[in-house]
Amino acid sequence: MPSVCVFGAQWGDEGKGKIIDGMARDADVVVRYQGGANAGHTVVVQGKKYVLHLIPSGILHPGKVNVIGTGVAVDPLALWGEVEGLRAQGVAVDGSNLRLSAGAHVIFEHHKRIDAAAERWRGLGRIGTTGRGIGPSYADRAARTGLRVCDLLDTARLRERLQAALAEKNAALTAVHGEEPLDLDEQLARYAGLGETLRPFVGDTGREVRRAYADGKLVLFEGAQGAMLDIDAGTYPFVTSSHTGAAGVAAGAGFPPRDLERVIGIAKAYCTRVGEGPFPSEDHGPDGERIRVAGNEYGATTGRPRRCGWFDVLAVRYALELNGADGWIVTNLDVLSGFKEIRVCTAYDVGGERRTEWPADLPDVEHVKPIHETLPGWDEDITGVREFADLPQAARDYVAWLEQRVGTPIVMLSVGPDRDQVIPRTSAPLVGAAGGRR
Ligand code: IMP
Repeated sequence: MPSVCVFGAQWGDEGKGKIIDGMARDADVVVRYQGGANAGHTVVVQGKKYVLHLIPSGILHPGKVNVIGTGVAVDPLALWGEVEGLRAQGVAVDGSNLRLSAGAHVIFEHHKRIDAAAERWRGLGRIGTTGRGIGPSYADRAARTGLRVCDLLDTARLRERLQAALAEKNAALTAVHGEEPLDLDEQLARYAGLGETLRPFVGDTGREVRRAYADGKLVLFEGAQGAMLDIDAGTYPFVTSSHTGAAGVAAGAGFPPRDLERVIGIAKAYCTRVGEGPFPSEDHGPDGERIRVAGNEYGATTGRPRRCGWFDVLAVRYALELNGADGWIVTNLDVLSGFKEIRVCTAYDVGGERRTEWPADLPDVEHVKPIHETLPGWDEDITGVREFADLPQAARDYVAWLEQRVGTPIVMLSVGPDRDQVIPRTSAPLVGAAGGRR
């Protein structure tokens, strides 16, 4: 009865959407357990591009059940837009293949307004959020003033709770942020309507997932963002507001932690970050720009250019260890084709002291200096390669070297955006009975 968690092992945008879409072929249920419409998972199927923000990547496979769990911050407007967008692209979406947790917290218009306004107040300390209302919604959840999906389904209850929320939020919007207040009736009409529209999808998804697992179904948990953006383990305060790794599965999906059997991390062959915050191996020169162009490194959600740099062994090793990864997948290896030399960050200089482990004890990783090692590059286009043995020697050496330095087996490589542009490195199925822990 296998269950697998796939998570990002860097700062997000590792190419999880494509990998999860591929693994979903062998899964029965695909579950999002955290984050919200701040995520942007791009999947290309036979040249056709799909960008998913809230809906799990399994939606592109007929017959799979896709679940938005309790730990996800749900913007119902964004969710409905996504359902309609998929339908327009010919993808069937209904209450049988998309399930929405009744307990998931709702992102309202006021959360998005406050997200943007709070960034203005932060000045130089701004996080560079996606502006999707993620932080303010999770803050209300912790403060116990949030509204959940089930609250959208009962208009009298919604009115009462939204009125109380807006009394506080409008005071903050007008007095603190200098913005116009939101009108209760207008908001009520919009969100009650959305609640009705979404009703067929809503249920106790935790129980549905546990039952499916108990019935022998294969359950795949899809992480969003990345381990280095985790609220606790990431580069705080430049993080998102949820638990992005395997630890998020239990609470966010309503799934007992001991039933999670396998954990797989995803990392690019180099590194990117969007938004502000520490990025020790960032390359501000022409090489960084070259990676951005070759890798089309622009945000799937916001369109922002991503900051680009070299693979950081310390960050990925930390992320895989923290999440108990059994293996990891290297994506975008093809983007490095044509570099004469490839740099990799293998240590930091912290005020003259050489560190070889991620410095989670430092209050600010911003000022560490990266120490790079250099490996030979390769010229060949590798986007058509499907067997490890057919890669150029320098590419094979790079992969083997990364694996040895990071210390966890690399189970697959990705060499292009399409579903089939992958190179397996293990004969065991990534999703399936063979590789379980128990
Ligand atoms: P928030 O999640 O919108 O609050 O943004 C917090 C930080 O996480 C910002 O630096 C964002 O750029 C980053 N972030 C949020 N979602 C993603 C994602 O899906 N990929 C990469 N970075 C993300």
